[in-house]
Amino acid sequence: MRTSCLNVLTFTLVAALSSVSSSAVRAASPEPVKAENGMVVTAQHLASDIGVEVLKKGGNAVDAAVAVGYALAVVYPTAGNIGGGGFMTIRFKDGKTTFLDFRERAPAAATKAMYLDDKGQLVDGLSTEGYLAVGVPGPVLGFEVARSRYGTRPLQELIAPAIALAKDGFRLEQGDIDSFDGETERLGKDPAAAAIFLKPDGKPFAVGETLVQADLAASLSRISEKGTDAFYKGPIADAIVKASADKGGILAKTDFEKYAVRELEPVKCNYRGYDIVSSPPPSSGGVIICEILNVLEGYPLSYLGYGSAETVHAMIEAMRHAYVDRNTTLGDPSFVENPIAKLLDKAYAAEIRGKIDPFKAGVSQALMPEGFAESKETTHYSIIDDEGNAVAVTYTLNGSFGAGVVAPGTGILLNNEMDDFTAKPGAPNLYGLVQGEANAIAPGKTPLSSMSPTIVSKDGKPFMVIGSPGGARIITITLEAILNVIDHGMNIQEAVDAPRIHHQWLPDKVFMEPYALSPDTRKLLSAMGHDVQIDKSWSIWGQATGILVGGESLAEISEGGGARYNGAVDSRIGAGAARGY
Ligand code: GLY
Repeated sequence: MRTSCLNVLTFTLVAALSSVSSSAVRAASPEPVKAENGMVVTAQHLASDIGVEVLKKGGNAVDAAVAVGYALAVVYPTAGNIGGGGFMTIRFKDGKTTFLDFRERAPAAATKAMYLDDKGQLVDGLSTEGYLAVGVPGPVLGFEVARSRYGTRPLQELIAPAIALAKDGFRLEQGDIDSFDGETERLGKDPAAAAIFLKPDGKPFAVGETLVQADLAASLSRISEKGTDAFYKGPIADAIVKASADKGGILAKTDFEKYAVRELEPVKCNYRGYDIVSSPPPSSGGVIICEILNVLEGYPLSYLGYGSAETVHAMIEAMRHAYVDRNTTLGDPSFVENPIAKLLDKAYAAEIRGKIDPFKAGVSQALMPEGFAESKETTHYSIIDDEGNAVAVTYTLNGSFGAGVVAPGTGILLNNEMDDFTAKPGAPNLYGLVQGEANAIAPGKTPLSSMSPTIVSKDGKPFMVIGSPGGARIITITLEAILNVIDHGMNIQEAVDAPRIHHQWLPDKVFMEPYALSPDTRKLLSAMGHDVQIDKSWSIWGQATGILVGGESLAEISEGGGARYNGAVDSRIGAGAARGY
């Protein structure tokens, strides 16, 4: 162990410069996909193909994002959806940015204690399974707001490929089958879901078989013909509300009629000269990524190196402090005052650094604010067009296949996003997050998210489009991809593939992917007091998708010879693809 991270700051610049000027030497990752005119990176190759076709025909990145959003609802049913919610971060060619919030809202009949029994204890499964777990869905209106404000193509043209895929079906490949893994029993409990996503004998589909979704094709056709009213005011809302009432849910037609998309100012910060634009509340993502980056800016990560005990210690402690703020202060901006200015302040980051002992692990319990008692399936896609408009979208059903229910006749899987609220202060949710009052359930409120669709620019030009699924880990996965490119000189493919670590304040554990840390590093971290372990409950961490502009890595960008667009789909994904033209 060196004496202290802070003592070596002066060497960092030299190390960083030498890593930038060296020619690209690849690690154990495939080459990024290269293109000159446009790039679409998604978790399912057919959706990527559809997005790139939109770009080739002259549609812009927002058009492609809408077409991809509808396509993933068909070909990536574990997370792609029109029955959930999401966020879209846009950076236009002129450098202006915006953010669309089309996340779920709590039904009007929702109450703070709706998941507790009469003794005040959480009722297992109530916030994750079935209709009581469902928030009012946003993607259909979200895509339409994006398209009508910033797109150039008619809805009918953008939704048509998704309708065709649902109607004619698509051939399932190994990556598709993997995304159904472990869901047979759950999907089997809902007859409408089982009729679509399982074979007539109740068994899961196999490679080479075709998934046809006739009801979903009909719902998408209605949206294509009648617009968003078909979903929010017409037969689709009626069918969902009826199914909810039949199965103990609380969704009402007025919840759908009143649903509105919010256009918000994205969160912005600067990290070592790079401008980061990401998700504001009701996401915690952008704020917490920026807070962690602000803390880490004071440490010479490039010099200390990827995976060294000092780098990892600084990351863990920055994450620990930032997740306290996430879990205890943030919530829907229409309901709570979010302390954004404080959390993004570089002076606040310096204050946090002052509390970090360079030789010793912090103690999460010691950071417990006074009065505070003690899924994984989302999907992200990244798009950039010929003009340089960049779009990052993360959207989700929350858990894999959401609440595991399909309203009969609609073909639409519904979310279990209500679990992202604080069902009971101090009790962990699906992602082990221990949260507070700011994120308590209220009618019409949006649960706090970690989704972090992020666009990085440098010197006024787009540099990186990045994001990931992964529940509470979305934030650290996206953060680590940024650090891997900027501090560690990795190319975009290596940056999304590299093994990761995660800390979220509570539980007070450092989770690592297999091989993320060498035995030597683990020993050093343990000696500092960190409890480092592989989380056996997460077989695959979130699958990031990213684009780097001007070269595959900082080294190639500095040499000036790189491809304009460099796309990378996480090697953890079986079905995804980066497609360019
Ligand atoms: N449901 C995951 C998130 O929004 O953070």
